[in-house]
Amino acid sequence: MPPPVLSTLPKGRPLVLALIGATSGIGSYTARALCRTFASNPKKLRVYLVGRNASRAASILEYAKEVCPGSEWVFLEVEDLALMSEVDDVARRIEEAEEKKAFWSGEDEEGMKTRKRLDGMWLCQALSPMQESRVTKEGLDTQLSLLYYSRIHLIQKLIPLLISSPHPSHVISIFAGGYQDRISTTGPPPIGTPSPKAYGMTSVRTNVVFMKTFLFEELASKYAGKISFTHIYPGLVDGPTFYSVVNPWWARMLWRVIMKPLLSWYMTSAEVCGDVMVGLLDSVRYPPQGGSGGKGEMSTRAEPGDGAYGVGQRGDASGKVMYEGIRKEDTGKRVWEHTMGVFEEIDK
Ligand SMILES: NC(=O)c1ccc[n+]([C@@H]2O[C@H](COP(=O)([O-])OP(=O)(O)OC[C@H]3O[C@@H](n4cnc5c(N)ncnc54)[C@H](OP(=O)(O)O)[C@@H]3O)[C@@H](O)[C@H]2O)c1
Repeated sequence: MPPPVLSTLPKGRPLVLALIGATSGIGSYTARALCRTFASNPKKLRVYLVGRNASRAASILEYAKEVCPGSEWVFLEVEDLALMSEVDDVARRIEEAEEKKAFWSGEDEEGMKTRKRLDGMWLCQALSPMQESRVTKEGLDTQLSLLYYSRIHLIQKLIPLLISSPHPSHVISIFAGGYQDRISTTGPPPIGTPSPKAYGMTSVRTNVVFMKTFLFEELASKYAGKISFTHIYPGLVDGPTFYSVVNPWWARMLWRVIMKPLLSWYMTSAEVCGDVMVGLLDSVRYPPQGGSGGKGEMSTRAEPGDGAYGVGQRGDASGKVMYEGIRKEDTGKRVWEHTMGVFEEIDK
């Protein structure tokens, strides 16, 4: 069953949304789900579609025209979001577009006629986990950057737009929400890029999920009452990433011939996945910190409605405190300082 909020969203206030790294896979499924959701009231929807592939973007815009005519879609082409300089650039382009013409559906909803803003954003940029991950010219591992640094940097750059609306806004990062790898209780916390010796699919996930959990908690407190932060594991969702030539031939074959048929019972369809992603805009279920009177989904600190969520493939949280055994009073601060330190170093 689609999330119930899908039937109320198009009756609510007009929304300005951004889909980042979204010309294929889950980002594109979310774009299509937005079209279906707002088909009954297209004038309530403005979307910035940010991605690398102009021809795939054109087919999403074509779908929007067909299914949700009257909704506003703007494609912003990028080359490499692993670079903070490109993140800065795309944030500036979104800001300029909002500056030029605020989104207004024709009714005078709380000064919306002049209010430049962003009501929600999905972050989807990633390499295939099997792809070689090079070091960028700014000195970051590409995969770590796409899954973490680039996403956090973009959030920071767009904060002025995200806090501009009188209503809560939603930041949604698609990767491995709620997923906790085993972490040594005696060693240093998994902050930064794994060492070359430890580097691999699991260690990347371990470090990214750890840092994102604590950074989102920090951001949720900083922007209490304003922005809600959700990190989601989308489940197993078929898409171009499994067939890409960046993967070894045997991995593509394995997926096509064995894994996909074997795991079909567990897989999430493109349509259901898109609906779940749009459902994360639910401000009652995923409110910003302090905005719900103790109601809402369990946060990563196992407090209802606490503003930072780590959820699974249907948007449900486990209800447990994440990293309970190794969480210390200053863990969030350490992750914050590391992350800001990386950005400052690149800015020099
Ligand atoms: N699909 C699954 O089963 C699954 C399972 C668990 C987690 N996830 C996570 O969900 C997220 C989305 O996955 P997906 O399946 O939708 O993968 P996908 O189809 O490969 O989408 C990734 C997107 O990132 C973009 N991208 C890659 N490198 C980029 C760069 N340097 N600069 C800007 N954009 C870049 C890609 O652009 P192009 O289209 O131009 O290549 C693509 O649009 C990822 O974080 C993934 O780890 C997916």
